[in-house]
Amino acid sequence: MGMTSTPPRRRFLAWLTRGFLSLWGLGLAWVLASFFKPPKLGGSVAERVIKVGPDESIRVGQARLVRHGRAPVWVIRNRDGALVALSGICTHLRCVLDWDESRNELDCPCHEGRFDLNGNVLGGPAPRSLAKYRVETRLGQIYLHL
Ligand code: FES
Repeated sequence: MGMTSTPPRRRFLAWLTRGFLSLWGLGLAWVLASFFKPPKLGGSVAERVIKVGPDESIRVGQARLVRHGRAPVWVIRNRDGALVALSGICTHLRCVLDWDESRNELDCPCHEGRFDLNGNVLGGPAPRSLAKYRVETRLGQIYLHL
């Protein structure tokens, strides 16, 4: 009586089947993983949204300096009632700008740089205009997008 051994052909088929099954399993796992992964927000770097406060807390002609890390941003309600958001850092030597309500502009206390509400340089040694940011009101709250 000889030993019963699986013929090589059958062993090969079993190996092939296992191989296909594991590939199929990997594919399924990948599909499931991509399905449950949270969607990316706005490209590779998620946009930061900062809640500034209630809509009525910044009235026409008023402004608020929103501190965010080392880069504060001015949120200003212009004379038309629209909100604008501008970098609070002077483009000359990086002093923090002041809001001048009577002149309707941002002024630099260091070397008299001046900027309008579009961020354009009005005077002084500042070499560039200020960065602008998106700001919006949703459900009575002001949100700043950085
Ligand atoms: S740092 Fe603002 S004008 Fe020099």
